[in-house]
Amino acid sequence: MKKLTIIILFLPWVLWATPQTWELRSPDKQITIELSLDNNSLSYAVKYQEKPVLRSSKLGMAFKENPSLQKNLMIVSTSTRRQEQTWQAVWGQRAEIIDHFNELQITLREKSATPREMIVSFRAYNDGIAFRYIFPEQPHMKNVVISNELTEFAFARNFSTWWIPAYRDQRFEYQFLNSALSTVDVAHTPITLLDKGVAVAVHEAALVNYASMTLRNITDNHITFTADLVPWANGDKVYTQTPFQTPWRMIQIAENELALLDSDLMLNLNEPMPENTDTSYVETGKYMGIWWEMHIGEKDWSPGPLQGATTERAIEYIDFATKHDIMGVLVEGWNTGWDGEWWKRKPTFDFTTPVNGFDIEKVSAYAQKKGLRLIGHHETAAGIAHYEAQMEDAFAYYHQLGVRSVKMGYVGTRLDQHEWHHGQFMVNHYQKVTELAAKYQITLNGHETVKDTGLSRTFPNLMTREVVRGMEYNGGSPDTGNLPNHTVIIPFTRGLAGPIDFTPGIFNFAYQKNRPNNRVPSTLANQLALYVTLYSPLQMAADLPENYDKHPAFQFIDDVPTNWKQSKAIAGQIAKYLVVARQDKNSKDWYLGATTNEDSRELEVKLDFLDDSTKYYARLYLDGQDADWETNPMSYKIEERELSSSDTLKISLKPGGGAAIQFKALN
Ligand code: NOJ
Ligand code: CA
Repeated sequence: MKKLTIIILFLPWVLWATPQTWELRSPDKQITIELSLDNNSLSYAVKYQEKPVLRSSKLGMAFKENPSLQKNLMIVSTSTRRQEQTWQAVWGQRAEIIDHFNELQITLREKSATPREMIVSFRAYNDGIAFRYIFPEQPHMKNVVISNELTEFAFARNFSTWWIPAYRDQRFEYQFLNSALSTVDVAHTPITLLDKGVAVAVHEAALVNYASMTLRNITDNHITFTADLVPWANGDKVYTQTPFQTPWRMIQIAENELALLDSDLMLNLNEPMPENTDTSYVETGKYMGIWWEMHIGEKDWSPGPLQGATTERAIEYIDFATKHDIMGVLVEGWNTGWDGEWWKRKPTFDFTTPVNGFDIEKVSAYAQKKGLRLIGHHETAAGIAHYEAQMEDAFAYYHQLGVRSVKMGYVGTRLDQHEWHHGQFMVNHYQKVTELAAKYQITLNGHETVKDTGLSRTFPNLMTREVVRGMEYNGGSPDTGNLPNHTVIIPFTRGLAGPIDFTPGIFNFAYQKNRPNNRVPSTLANQLALYVTLYSPLQMAADLPENYDKHPAFQFIDDVPTNWKQSKAIAGQIAKYLVVARQDKNSKDWYLGATTNEDSRELEVKLDFLDDSTKYYARLYLDGQDADWETNPMSYKIEERELSSSDTLKISLKPGGGAAIQFKALN
């Protein structure tokens, strides 16, 4: 990662209003953090354009075996720093990322005969603020059990809030709720809050050896929340020892929800990857797989008459993929242990033994001969101990087969029967998986894992994850599937926490033979547009090869890149519609995706994001005149024409519809 410019200066912008208050402003001065040490405790407040976002909110930490650090603090020292640099991403929504902030660190000491020390580091960026606690090595604090983090979020308004409940059995796989902030009880992050002229999203960055943060309403029907760390089964929150630091508590702030989408705050708060990191094997791209046919009940993960994982079927996928820009083929149910209701019992998976009928050596050799690779699958059914005992052998096995990307699975309500998917137990497990996978030159696609907090900047093999209610719910969920507005909600909520393996691209909507009540709540053009509106460096073409074969609209999936030079959220409103444009990292071509909820919509999109001096030949994949997700999802049309940056495009989106456009540069 090349640092272009680094300016570190000590500046007098931290104003000493009184001896015990400080003010830190974003480089553009739109965001202000106000800090004060009052009655021996430290608190912070946040303003956007001089209007309060968070009122005075307490900071501190509670420990199981020691007194809290909150009400007995004095200042030891403060220091300030300003940084302005640009760094290059290995892959992402942007090739080059601007990292520009003002920082203030406050070192606090406990008033005690055996004092402990804690540093709180605050940063103000143009797109939000962040802070973290740092506990240096010190004589009176060694091994630590955190019983509560005493970080408050005293929101200033009863925002219209988009959230999913925490501590539920299906982890992150819920439709988002919209309600007044005061009705939220306990929510996962990211949580998105909207009011006139301001949009806020609370999340965290760099979650390592700590528990995930959820937000809990301190008093029912009020708007002050606390950082509620996901506990271990015994109620303890975090086991650690000094020196340690917490993840960054991060609050994105912008003028509206659309502007939240172009923020790189989460990545900027993560560490650069170590100098000697091997990225030679890290490849972005599209994959297909023996997957959707299981979800729609045509095939099964279990061995037997409906067994999906067979040598012949894998070769059919590879033969199709070879003719297109598809980098790999996933085969679920490839190993032994999937018999019957595998998700209901203690796992019996063997991660180095293929099931009868699936010749893995032959399939992976065949794939490589054809220039692609088998994508691995480690479904653990939430059995961590069972998996960890085989994990090293499992990655070594895939490595020698030439596999470079593994999809992970943690289906289950608790890990090893008793731990949450977002506590320190899982954070540490998935860190182990990440480092081991890197050792075997394998990238990861995590389903049912802990949420993303931007660690892919440090570990670029952490490519994508599900951690959302994905396409699979349209396949077989007893609640009939996702609502049509789901895919215009998640970019503004879950999408703020990094890439989503949503698995778009369903072309055949008539799969009700075994799933009479389920459907994909979109049109075909909407399915194409999702490759642009839902960002992921690995995108699945989720339908079966026979549904794509000779289908003219497959050309868009074939052409669309998954790694970008730049990305721009052009227009949109949460739960209503979204327009995103992205430029290919390896050419001058642009791609645009537009999607709507259940309502039809007429959009006028200015093409001023295109390069002024370039002419483009555009291929437009649009909803047909009579397209409608409920009555006629397959209706689409393809148009072609020359367009340039001075044009304004009129796009007609039908109910549940979309538009996907490729702009090929002609000069
Ligand atoms: C849940 C995953 O999200 C899905 O993609 C996968 O097919 C099943 N688990 C089985 O592993
Ligand atoms: Ca899932």
